[in-house]
Amino acid sequence: MSANQLVLAAIFALFLLPAFGFANGRQKSLAIIKEINKNGPYLGLITVYSAEEDAFFATGAFKNDSRYPYVDLSGKRFRVGRIEGKKVIYVRCGIGMVNAAAATQQMVDLFDIYGLIHFGVSGNTNTSLSIGDVVVPKEFINTGLWDWMKTNGTVPIEDIAKLDVKDYNLPKRGNNYLGRIAYRSERYYSEAGEPNVPQEKVWFEVTTNWLQLATSLQGIELERCVNSTLCLETKPKVVVGVRGSTANMFVNNGDYRDFLYQTFGVSSADMESSAVVMTSFSNGYPVIVIRGMSDLAGGQNGTVNDIDLFESLASTNVAKVVLQFIKLLSRKLYPF
Ligand SMILES: *[C@@H]1O[C@H](CO)[C@@H](O)[C@H](O)[C@H]1NC(C)=O
Ligand SMILES: *[C@@H]1O[C@H](CO)[C@@H](O)[C@H](O)[C@H]1NC(C)=O
Ligand SMILES: *[C@@H]1O[C@H](CO)[C@@H](O)[C@H](O)[C@H]1NC(C)=O
Ligand SMILES: *[C@@H]1O[C@H](CO)[C@@H](O)[C@H](O)[C@H]1NC(C)=O
Repeated sequence: MSANQLVLAAIFALFLLPAFGFANGRQKSLAIIKEINKNGPYLGLITVYSAEEDAFFATGAFKNDSRYPYVDLSGKRFRVGRIEGKKVIYVRCGIGMVNAAAATQQMVDLFDIYGLIHFGVSGNTNTSLSIGDVVVPKEFINTGLWDWMKTNGTVPIEDIAKLDVKDYNLPKRGNNYLGRIAYRSERYYSEAGEPNVPQEKVWFEVTTNWLQLATSLQGIELERCVNSTLCLETKPKVVVGVRGSTANMFVNNGDYRDFLYQTFGVSSADMESSAVVMTSFSNGYPVIVIRGMSDLAGGQNGTVNDIDLFESLASTNVAKVVLQFIKLLSRKLYPF
């Protein structure tokens, strides 16, 4: 090493390395990101909350240690790592559509990524599926954009579905001051469209080539037991190509679950996916979603919340499928 190189190395060690670990302040974070991007492009990974992250890290496949930098942005930690030899940027976005969309936009705007994998648990709204199964939906709908109408109110013609609260009265059907809920479509802006001109869009599809790649995941061996005494009745499976739903609400209501399935034909209900897919798509980035069924979204009998029993199992199964998908992707880096 020459004297100049030594000085450079010392500067790097003194100033830049600590900054990787103790980033604070937006300018500092942006400087770190610039360094991180020099090693790009990366695959972006977005999960939601700690149970999912714990299971993902527990696989040991995501090398998350001091050798790899991280950067904190708006209170979230974006970690650099490697999976199956592939460079990834990973973030746990937090529950809800605002967190999901914000993290997705940060991923595509700030980091040198070529696509996004979003993963986590979800409620199961399709009675042909079971807890522990993992779905890779072909498309998502936001079921949380509502016109909340008066009793007998006229539903706007552009709305796509309605729920009459009177149909859910106890002990029998009857009118109700909560009226009716009418479902709107998204107003979608994209780089492919005219600026400031929204498109009315109901379904947000994941990237076709990536979905096709995922069909080869259907034979993966998944976990069936939480522990020695709690096991699922059937062997969990991977199901590719169904529909998924997202809204800013946790569905734990059997009747609403049935409504979602019958009205929209969706097999899952979560709180982030459509936001990630819409935002990726809007910016022109490939995206796929992998969700493990942690509960029946209220379809269970009794008062125990399935998610309390099965979120770790569902998270483990999701992590397995995500790793296998990344493995496939590494053989075919840009399948689009
Ligand atoms: C709604 O319509 C029903 C049937 O036409 C009627 O009996 C009821 O009074 C109406 N309710 C309100 C609040 O307008
Ligand atoms: C298995 O998990 C269930 C649910 O968390 C728990 O009630 C039960 O005690 C556990 N059994 C063992 C042997 O740890
Ligand atoms: C529900 O799940 C079953 C089993 O995977 C699947 O065959 C069916 O198409 C799903 N229903 C809908 C509406 O997607
Ligand atoms: C709940 O109970 C009903 C009536 O016994 C039964 O038909 C249904 O299959 C049960 N659902 C589940 C998820 O066990």
